[in-house]
Amino acid sequence: LKEAEAGKQILELATGLVKDELDLVEDEIRKRFRSKVPLIRNVASYLLEGGGKRIRPALHLLSFRLCNGKGNRAIPVAAALEFLHNATLLHDDVVDGADLRRGKQAANLRYGNQQSVLTGDFLVTRVFGILVEDGDLDLLSLIADITARMAEGEALELSLTSSDVPDEKHYLEVISEKTAVLFAASCEAAAILAGVKEARKPLWEYGMGFGMAFQLVDDLLDYLGTKDMLGKPVGGDLAEGKLTLPLLLAFKKSGNEAKALLDRMVFGEIREDDITLAANLIKNTGAHEITLRRAKDYSRKAIESIATLPASRERTALKDLARFCTDRNF
Ligand code: IPE
Ligand code: IPE
Ligand code: MG
Ligand code: MG
Repeated sequence: LKEAEAGKQILELATGLVKDELDLVEDEIRKRFRSKVPLIRNVASYLLEGGGKRIRPALHLLSFRLCNGKGNRAIPVAAALEFLHNATLLHDDVVDGADLRRGKQAANLRYGNQQSVLTGDFLVTRVFGILVEDGDLDLLSLIADITARMAEGEALELSLTSSDVPDEKHYLEVISEKTAVLFAASCEAAAILAGVKEARKPLWEYGMGFGMAFQLVDDLLDYLGTKDMLGKPVGGDLAEGKLTLPLLLAFKKSGNEAKALLDRMVFGEIREDDITLAANLIKNTGAHEITLRRAKDYSRKAIESIATLPASRERTALKDLARFCTDRNF
């Protein structure tokens, strides 16, 4: 837990430049999830006000300042990006049958699947309401596009199962669509708002690299983290029968022990102690190091993507954040 606290301090330091704006985003979030239907209000408030690192708004605000963006347009857009992220979490926790999120009982468990799905839909419509208010068609088109891609990514992930062992390419495609595109759009959206055309592609690329690294580390922590660190259960992917890169690589490199585990995954017969078994397999086969190396490659690509943009404190902060995302432990 202490380590996680240290990690959070690094995050705070790197996002310190936009601290005031992030406070405004919190106000905006509270203002915008209001609904006349109490259940929607309650589910939205439960998740949105129950923690969360706010990384996507932070990346958006840093990117906006990096582009010398002026005015307040980035605040509601940052709130919209967090809404979109939270909508996907509500839906994802239903799909994954999750029981813990942000250190609390997951919304699907507390309020039910139906409420979670409907509140997720409500949040997505709020996102588009905010974008229509802003009125920029390029922005609207970007977010419409990645929203569809995220839904496709989550659907594609359903095929990452143990009964038909996927290859690495398939796995990378899934995380690119379900996770990385939102990070990419969070950064590119800032260049659109600031009217700096030439920054669009570099910021998109930065966000893609960041997002890939972020999800790779998330999938590693699913085995090697702790519940206190993550605010979500360890071994969730294994229990769901979902094959992510760490275990995929471990399976490739090991023999009989892995075969029996794979069979239990296929038949939904994962046992309590299989989580330790899988974690050891991942460590002993070196799958842990390879996954981390992949994450670091993406994080390096992210950093290189913004090398052509003018040097500034914001650019340094973005580089620090990309580095942090492979060192993070929460
Ligand atoms: C969790 O995202 C979902 C993934 C893409 C791995 P975050 O780790 O950003 O979740 P919160 O918002 O901080 O809870
Ligand atoms: C990331 O997938 C969630 C989304 C992109 C919606 P996971 O299922 O791996 O994320 P966690 O572990 O539930 O946060
Ligand atoms: Mg999940
Ligand atoms: Mg999932």
